[in-house]
Amino acid sequence: MMEHGAIGENHFLADVKRLRVSAQAMMACSAEPVGLLQAAMSAEIACVLRYSLIAVSADGLENEWVATECAAQAADERNHMVRLADRITELGGKPDYFAPGLALRHIAPEASKGCLPRLFAENLAAEQCVIELYRELSAHFADDPKTRAILDEILADEETHTSDMEDLLNTQLI
Ligand SMILES: [Fe+2]
Ligand SMILES: [Fe+2]
Repeated sequence: MMEHGAIGENHFLADVKRLRVSAQAMMACSAEPVGLLQAAMSAEIACVLRYSLIAVSADGLENEWVATECAAQAADERNHMVRLADRITELGGKPDYFAPGLALRHIAPEASKGCLPRLFAENLAAEQCVIELYRELSAHFADDPKTRAILDEILADEETHTSDMEDLLNTQLI
């Protein structure tokens, strides 16, 4: 039985994993590039929501360092989302910002009270999954240098996010 306010399933990781699996399926059948970039963009939307909501959660409001770090990370993720949306548009697609199924279930701010270690551990797992997604996409777009450069730049940011999250996790647990 879960304690009051606890977070059970890691929806954030589940959504990111699902998007990675769908991208893998698209790569396996040589789907249009736009669909692949949309999967990555949907993962970015999940990340924007996740970090933005933690920044304004009860714990975020009580811990300035948490709010600052999560707000900065949300800004990075938003930048990734915009870069992917721009590339989708350049390739003749239409970015979908609705990302069905993602909205508002990654964390309810009031539910995060006292759960920072768990939230950071969940974030770390999701960031690691995002890194794998970008590595796979980068390899897939080997013949499209412009798209690949965007993916590789985002990948470098995600690797920084992972080490930032490890630092936050260690800091919180000490
Ligand atoms: Fe990102
Ligand atoms: Fe990230």
